[in-house]
Amino acid sequence: MVAADDPESFFATAPPLGDADAVAARLRDFIARNSQSSADGDRRIVCVTSGGTTVPLEQRCVRYIDNFSSGHRGAASTEYFLKAGYAVIFVHRRGSCQPYCRFLPDNSFLKFFDVDAESKVQVAESHATMVMNAIGDYCKAIDGDSLLKLPFTTIFEYLQLLKIVATSISSVGPRGMFYLAAAVSDFYVPWDSMSKHKIQSAGGPLDMRLSQVPKMLSLLRNQWAPLAFCISFKLETDSDILIQKADMALNKYKMNAVVANLLATYKEEVIIVTNKERSTIRKINRDEDLEEQMIKILSHNHLKYICGNTDGCNQS
Ligand code: PMT
Repeated sequence: MVAADDPESFFATAPPLGDADAVAARLRDFIARNSQSSADGDRRIVCVTSGGTTVPLEQRCVRYIDNFSSGHRGAASTEYFLKAGYAVIFVHRRGSCQPYCRFLPDNSFLKFFDVDAESKVQVAESHATMVMNAIGDYCKAIDGDSLLKLPFTTIFEYLQLLKIVATSISSVGPRGMFYLAAAVSDFYVPWDSMSKHKIQSAGGPLDMRLSQVPKMLSLLRNQWAPLAFCISFKLETDSDILIQKADMALNKYKMNAVVANLLATYKEEVIIVTNKERSTIRKINRDEDLEEQMIKILSHNHLKYICGNTDGCNQS
């Protein structure tokens, strides 16, 4: 018998994605359309993962374990990748923050609207420009075929999607990038050992053993998309181990960069760790997006990587 933390066993026992064939077809078309040569040369394609994965405790799920992530970083990064000319595959948690919607208030978006004297609903004057720009940017991305959105909720859906995206993106070689900002569960209940129905409380306290989710970064790097430029993230709560853990991920999984951040300060500061250097990026003022600086550096590194892997490269 294979262990639950073995990737083969994980995929063999996971409930299969209902629309896997349709997703694969959408990806094929999206990548083909964005790979046709243009005046700018072949387009770069990035897969941004965003939001937290859930771990169901029951097959007919009432309860689940969640992972911390609002999806803000992934959504903001997607906007800056699009601005930098990338085509973006946005693999996101259902209900998490979406590109161009980051400014929408949680409580309550109704304050964006007014009702005029003729009972017509309008966007409030104070927010009109912001909404108009967001609609314009979003429509440009979708109509221009630059943004493909693929949702997940559970760890089972996320890892199956990642595999389909990775094996599809491998066709563009070094032009492909992975930006793995999603907060991915480290522990799970294998589907075949999960309670089918709601766990009953009458039986007293709950003892549950969680298996380890196999790390897919090695497979991504070595098998699924060996030439892609890969950036993983490292979130820690203890500053004493952050860099050490980022270095470990860089070397063990042969990532091109690791973005290290601490839970207490991740909105204000990140450290981009590569084999050559460590760059600390800090937010200078309140209105600035940290992601703007991050994407500038990473996109530049990606260009250099493409040049290093492509004959006759003339990109600067
Ligand atoms: O969404 P926000 O609220 O804006 O927050 C952004 C963020 C803090 C979530 C983001 O910046 C971040 O740090 N994301 C990664 C968090 C995380 O899951 O770290 P980790 O140490 O558990 O995982 C490290 C890497 O391994 C990740 O890139 C993950 O994709 C990968 N992984 C994790 C588990 C697993 N079983 N397989 C994996 O491949």
